Amino acid sequence: ASAQLAGQTLAAPSAAPIAAAPSLTVLFGSQTGNAKHVAEDIAAAATAKGFAVKVQDLAEYKNTSLKNERLLVMVTSTYGEGEPPENAISFYNFLFSKKAPALPELRYAVLGLGDTSYEFFCKTAQDFDERFAALGAKALIARADLDVDYAEQAAQWQQQLIKALEPELAQVSSAVAVDLTSVAAPAAVSSYNKQQPFSAELYTNQKITGRDSTKDVRHIEISLAGSGLTYQPGDALGVYFRNDPLLVRELLLLTGIASNTPVQLAELQLPIAEALIEHLELTQSYPGFVSRYATAIGHAELQTLAADKVALRQYLADRQIIDIVRDYPGLLNAQQLVDALRKQQPRLYSIASSQAEVEDEVHLTVGVVRYNAFNLLHLGGASGFLAERLAEGEQIKVFVEQNNNFRLPENDDTPIIMIGPGTGIAPFRAFLQERDARGASGKNWLFFGNPHFTQDFLYQVELQNYLKQGLLNKLDVAFSRDTAEKIYVQHKLMQQAATVWQWLEQGAHLYICGDGNRMAKDVHQALLSIIQQQGGKDEKAAQHYLDQLRVAKRYQKDVY
Ligand code: 2AM
Repeated sequence: ASAQLAGQTLAAPSAAPIAAAPSLTVLFGSQTGNAKHVAEDIAAAATAKGFAVKVQDLAEYKNTSLKNERLLVMVTSTYGEGEPPENAISFYNFLFSKKAPALPELRYAVLGLGDTSYEFFCKTAQDFDERFAALGAKALIARADLDVDYAEQAAQWQQQLIKALEPELAQVSSAVAVDLTSVAAPAAVSSYNKQQPFSAELYTNQKITGRDSTKDVRHIEISLAGSGLTYQPGDALGVYFRNDPLLVRELLLLTGIASNTPVQLAELQLPIAEALIEHLELTQSYPGFVSRYATAIGHAELQTLAADKVALRQYLADRQIIDIVRDYPGLLNAQQLVDALRKQQPRLYSIASSQAEVEDEVHLTVGVVRYNAFNLLHLGGASGFLAERLAEGEQIKVFVEQNNNFRLPENDDTPIIMIGPGTGIAPFRAFLQERDARGASGKNWLFFGNPHFTQDFLYQVELQNYLKQGLLNKLDVAFSRDTAEKIYVQHKLMQQAATVWQWLEQGAHLYICGDGNRMAKDVHQALLSIIQQQGGKDEKAAQHYLDQLRVAKRYQKDVY
């Protein structure tokens, strides 16, 4: 969707010199691709208006260019406890450092994407907005902070933005603007995507944890045959799912709504049961539902809870929509229930295969969310669907979500260190398949961890074969509950500190995939200690070393 029009001059009808199309830079900080797609939409709209638009991943953006920008749009998500997404960290640090330039000539607009379930909702967008202003820049339009179901509001914000940008085009003659429009028309997207997913066939659903495991992990194989969809190791598969009909039935019983009651969903009219099964979010809970539901049933106590952010967040943990309705039963009509819910968002799974090996298949490693709470069994939406409700041979709607921030080194000789406990193994299976198929000579080292050796050694046979064959040079495993004292991947890293350092100094790329709350942070700390200890650096220098690795794309994370 990027269009570079700067410098284009077209034959002028009059003698007056023609101003070049005004330049607009659109940057995105994105973890799951949403901010990227919104940024690309904005770029396409601005390009069509006649702007010379550059749309760029923040990881690719040269910080020193900032001082030359005149019109800048920033679309960003927020990660974890209010941190910038991985690809935005460098720019964020730069912007908040002493090196950040004064920006008196910059006009900017910030759009935040987030999830109101999190305490630090859209924090990064807010930070960027405040910092641009503090550096002297002027906002073109007010920032908007959007929730998970952002599509409609993002489109509105985009319209506002384009309107605010329009005066910039005033100097460009209309003849030129028209010509530029035709030049700038974005290429048609030919394949399936998030808006138009492909109906793919499920080939295989195989449990790969043992009978006595505390976990249920599935190896899933899906056919992309006939879709024209392609992917690279590091990409994710977006998956739509159908909610459990039994869950929907129970929700309708609780609310006293007949399952065939017609409801309106945007332009669609359909029976409420179908709306609930196919289109709405039931297996995650969110603050917006609580306040809308409380109002609809007129429940004062629940309204009070909905207004108390901290208490509400605590209340919502582990609760699905049905738990809230059970806790606070009340009467509302079918349309009110539908309007209280939000649209289902597809789930993203890191792809566990390489097309060089599996051709038109795509493999996933899915941890099934299944837990008891409030005396009832709870199942995850997508993982429950994949594991329990979708039979082999049936169809599932999917699309490919690119992730250019999690890629094998371009050079096949480069060594790689992969840290992927639990389902974090997924993209590394793809990496290994790819490197095997390519005959890449670079060394491969994998750290894997899970509770028990006998129950949870995912892809054990494949990995041991890779080890035998020599593709995998080193394999370190941490089975946390086989020993009296817990052993995690970071402990294994520390034990091998000298060799890890040696590999890094040989140019190795580092990858972490899996739990982002604790594991990725603890591994990061372990890496810092290794760099300090082995490289003879103090904490600050070690931090700098890792920062440099990240900037060089040698330290990449895919964490959730
Ligand atoms: P545990 O559940 O026995 O504590 C995959 O989930 C593996 O990651 C499990 O062995 C799990 O151990 C482990 N794990 C849990 N917390 C971790 C952390 N902070 N760092 C690394 N591994 C962790």
